[in-house]
Amino acid sequence: MKVLGIESSCDETGVALYDSARGLLGHRVHSQIDLHAAYGGVVPELASRDHIRRLPLLVRETLAEAGCALSEIDALAYTAGPGLAGALLVGAGAAEALALALDVPALPIHHLEGHLLSPLLAADAPDFPFVALLVSGGHTQLMRVTGVGEYELLGESLDDAAGEAFDKTAKLLGLGYPGGPQLAALAATGSAGRFRLPRPMLNSGDLDFSFSGLKTAVLNVVSAPGWQAADAADLAADFQQAVVEVLVRKALAALRSTGLQRLVVAGGVGANRELRAQLDRAAARRGWRVYYPEAELCTDNGAMIAFAGALRLAAGAGGSREGRIAIRPRW
Ligand code: KG4
Ligand code: ZN
Repeated sequence: MKVLGIESSCDETGVALYDSARGLLGHRVHSQIDLHAAYGGVVPELASRDHIRRLPLLVRETLAEAGCALSEIDALAYTAGPGLAGALLVGAGAAEALALALDVPALPIHHLEGHLLSPLLAADAPDFPFVALLVSGGHTQLMRVTGVGEYELLGESLDDAAGEAFDKTAKLLGLGYPGGPQLAALAATGSAGRFRLPRPMLNSGDLDFSFSGLKTAVLNVVSAPGWQAADAADLAADFQQAVVEVLVRKALAALRSTGLQRLVVAGGVGANRELRAQLDRAAARRGWRVYYPEAELCTDNGAMIAFAGALRLAAGAGGSREGRIAIRPRW
């Protein structure tokens, strides 16, 4: 089964061709970072327009890389939500139109399911069941995953997502967009321990998170008299350490409470080196293992959507052939 996946929920246009027999055959991502940088964040209308401009070429390049003709595609998979409505409509419209023209099924995929299953695309993939830590710009969730489509929410952020906290804090420190990677890079040049920042909900006894107070604590530091921009690297390191500490502690608690020994980390924040280092150390001490997607599949991409579509098809999902555009921006 050859599945063409399309991702357009936010500021990356992703297209990929996944073959259930041969794996990932082609894969293209266009990032709109340069387009939105001047505005300090994603401008939804500009995002939609750029997805429209990029998609046809990306589809053609992906098929060329895969050595596959359009007529060989067995199904389409597209991100149906959550995401920006106009941006989602572009990918959904393209996928449903192709499906209609080729008379093959189109499968609407939940963006987070794509992230969640993406570590299974790696050469050294985990078996089910596992605990998933989903850390993206919109979500922070811990989940028990027992199979494709079998996800039990164990805990989540009650306010800002971890990536959102990184992005907002980066803005407070005068860093550009997207803030997460820039803040992480700045943190790597500083050392943690100088600023006392809170560890929100560390001892709440459940698996929920809260990150908005942490951003406020940083705001208090940078607006206090005596604040010097030269201290930004140390403050960034302390912020990162606070987020990482809470994520690690809760992820370990989720493994303990479920009795599972495999942790899968997915979503943009999963690219954070400090998070990976501390998770790996903590898990190794207990004989547990942490799995990550390939580096290029951590942030938004079409491969995870094509792959989720292929797994859903294999599990018996039929998809639709009616050209019904099924976006769910707040899914
Ligand atoms: O999964 P993703 O690409 O898009 C969403 O579905 O949200 O995640 C993007 C988020 C952004 O908030 C970005 O700042 C954050 O992931 N991020 C990072 C790093 N790389 C990306 N946060 C911390 N450290 C990083 N290295
Ligand atoms: Zn994402």
